[in-house]
Amino acid sequence: MLQGKEILLGVTGGIAAYKSVLLLRELTKYGANVNVIMTKSATEFVGSLTFQTLSGNPVTTDIFTLFASSEIGHVSLASRADLLVIAPATANIIGKIANGIADDFLTTMVMATRVPVLFAPAMNTNMWASRVVQRNISDLKEMDYNFMEPAEGELACGVVGRGKLADIDAIMDEIKALLSPNDLQGEKILISAGPTEEAIDPARCLTNRSSGKMGYNLAAVARRRGAEVILVAGPCAELENWGIKVINCKTALEMADAIDQNLDGVTSVIMAAAVADFRPAEQAAEKIKRDGNYCLELEPNPDILAGLGKRPDKPFLVGFAAETNKLFDHAQGKIKRKNLDMIVANDVTAPGAGFSVDTNIICIIDRDGQMTDFPLMSKENVAGVILDHMLKLKKKRRLLA
Ligand code: CTP
Repeated sequence: MLQGKEILLGVTGGIAAYKSVLLLRELTKYGANVNVIMTKSATEFVGSLTFQTLSGNPVTTDIFTLFASSEIGHVSLASRADLLVIAPATANIIGKIANGIADDFLTTMVMATRVPVLFAPAMNTNMWASRVVQRNISDLKEMDYNFMEPAEGELACGVVGRGKLADIDAIMDEIKALLSPNDLQGEKILISAGPTEEAIDPARCLTNRSSGKMGYNLAAVARRRGAEVILVAGPCAELENWGIKVINCKTALEMADAIDQNLDGVTSVIMAAAVADFRPAEQAAEKIKRDGNYCLELEPNPDILAGLGKRPDKPFLVGFAAETNKLFDHAQGKIKRKNLDMIVANDVTAPGAGFSVDTNIICIIDRDGQMTDFPLMSKENVAGVILDHMLKLKKKRRLLA
């Protein structure tokens, strides 16, 4: 998504200026070309050479050096860019821009550009809460400027409160959102993620190796593309989920219930969760002691997806099929049995595919048996192609209707 994008990174004078070095690293890691603009006071915190070396581009600090060059620098940079992000954004820069002051390169650039502008503010808690800063922000939001909410925590000045620069991953997520098409606007997508966990006794459980990464990536990418997202997640490591309603659950029965309770207005359900097919018939109240052989009796869990497929108001249904053999046959059988619109199948034994890794190799099978293969991709890109395919099928259906 960031490959080949032109990003302008404005750095202003606050202690969090060192964190924008990390933001620059992330942006270039994903293939963006970054031009950094520093205000004079930002250079008091971090040297421009650091940004120059890491971006591979000259850093602009002085408006007059650019006026001396053959092209009017701020206009050419501003027109080439895809996005301008100001991180950290001080109360001062926010105030200047909100009031139309353009007295240095960064403020001139903001005024000259037509691309989306994202502010990631960082300042003292009282400054952040001050009425004048909040008024300036609300004026800028009204003018379609975008803002990250600063994080809470211990600030460099020792105060605890809101005002820390937002998490770099959260800023990256918002940058990706601003660069994404809004093609899922109007969709309300419920996504399930992770494993389920069925208690045997207070100390032990039945679960599986699902990390939840596929479902979380689907949720993040769908949100960036404008969908309203509800994520129903089984127990998995806390993954980033900015702007997404997350409902946590443990057992398959809890997951079925959470999905059932949240179907109102849902246009599509993507079941990426690895739901346990069975649960212990009885859950021991006390820890089971070692005492010779032990036989665990299991009873079946409901098939959540098949249940959704039977509903008269069935939303568009996407299933997953994690297989170890006869991929196509098993996956196609599941489409029919569960009344799905499409299924995402993968061979979990293939290197780079399946549980716990950050990549996957999938094929997508439609109701009519058409199969599309995809190469090894990051789970973020896999999420993108699944959502693309879903949109394509929905459009086709609308055309045929
Ligand atoms: N699924 C579900 N409820 C279950 C089991 C599975 O909703 N109790 C969903 C999964 O989230 C997935 C799809 O059904 O989207 C296929 O899951 P999978 O475990 O591959 O299939 P099963 O139907 O359980 O078949 P089997 O385990 O025999 O392969």
